[in-house]
Amino acid sequence: MSAPLVLVTGASGGIGEALATQFARHGYDVALAARSADRLADVAAKLAGKGAKTHVIPVDLAVPEGAQNLLGALKDLHLDVDVLVNNAGFGDMDPVAEADCAKLMSMVDLNIRTLTELSCALLPGMVDRRRGGVLNVASTAAFMPGPNMAVYYASKAYVLSFTRALYAELKGSGVHASALCPGPVKSGFQDAADMKGSLLLKLSPMMGPKKVARIGYKAFAKGKREIVPGLSNKIMAVSPRFTPTAMTMRLIKKLQTQ
Ligand SMILES: NC(=O)c1ccc[n+]([C@@H]2O[C@H](COP(=O)([O-])OP(=O)(O)OC[C@H]3O[C@@H](n4cnc5c(N)ncnc54)[C@H](OP(=O)(O)O)[C@@H]3O)[C@@H](O)[C@H]2O)c1
Repeated sequence: MSAPLVLVTGASGGIGEALATQFARHGYDVALAARSADRLADVAAKLAGKGAKTHVIPVDLAVPEGAQNLLGALKDLHLDVDVLVNNAGFGDMDPVAEADCAKLMSMVDLNIRTLTELSCALLPGMVDRRRGGVLNVASTAAFMPGPNMAVYYASKAYVLSFTRALYAELKGSGVHASALCPGPVKSGFQDAADMKGSLLLKLSPMMGPKKVARIGYKAFAKGKREIVPGLSNKIMAVSPRFTPTAMTMRLIKKLQTQ
C-alpha cells in the first residue's frame, strides 16, 4: 500500500515547513505549496532525505484563483490528498484606516478564501475514502478582536469557527478537522506583518516552529478539535471569556502599537 499524502500550504518555511517535516517523519508523502520555488525545493530535499516522496508546487495562494491553480497542479500530478494542512497565511500591523486595502484583501483571499476552497474541493474525496483530515492553522488571535491587526484576527476567528463546525459535520465519517492555534512563534511572520517594533513581540514569549508542529501533529493524529500549544497561550485563549471585551481590546491595541 502506498504512503498517505499530506498537502501543506505555506511549506517553504516557519510552521508549514515544520509541520511537513512532522508528517514526513510519520510516514507521509508530502506535497509542498508556497510561492518560493527555491525554498520549497530545499525543504523537499530535506524531506526526501528522511524517506518521503515529495512534490513541489510553486503557487500564489493570495489571489482569487490561487486554490484552483493548486488543485489543477495536483490533478496534473495525479495526486489524491489524504490530509490537507491549510497553513499559509500572513498578517499586517496597521489600523484599517491607514492600511493598504489591496494587501488586506489578499490576506482575506489567502487566510480565508483559499483555505475554504481547498477544504471544499478535497474533503469529498477524503469522506469517500473514509480517511484523512484537515488541519487548519488558526492562532490565539482567533479568540479575540485585534485592534491594529483587525483583519488578521477576524480571519483567524473565521478559521477557528469554520474548523469547529467542520469537526462536528465530519463526526463518524472517518475524517476529522482540527484547528492549531499557536501564540507568537519565531518565523517569517513578524517581518511579513511589519510588527517587529511592537510591545507584543517585546513582551511575549516566542515558541519555535518545531515545537508548535510537534504538539500540533500529535494532537491532530489523536483527532483533537482545537490545539493551543503552551500554557501561557492556553490562558490567553480562554481569558477573553472572563474579561470585558473593551478591556481586552484596550490591552491588545496597546500591545499592537509600534
Ligand atoms: N508566527 C506566529 O507568531 C504565528 C502565530 C499564530 C499563527 N500563525 C499562523 O501560522 C501560519 C504560518 O505562519 P508562519 O509563522 O510559519 O509564517 P512564515 O514563516 O511567514 O510562513 C508563511 C508561509 O506561508 C507562505 N505564503 C505566504 N504568502 C503566500 C502566498 N501568497 N501564496 C502561497 N503561500 C504563501 C510563505 O511562503 P512564500 O513566501 O514562499 O509564499 C510561507 O511558507 C500562518 O497562517 C500564520 O497566520 C503564526
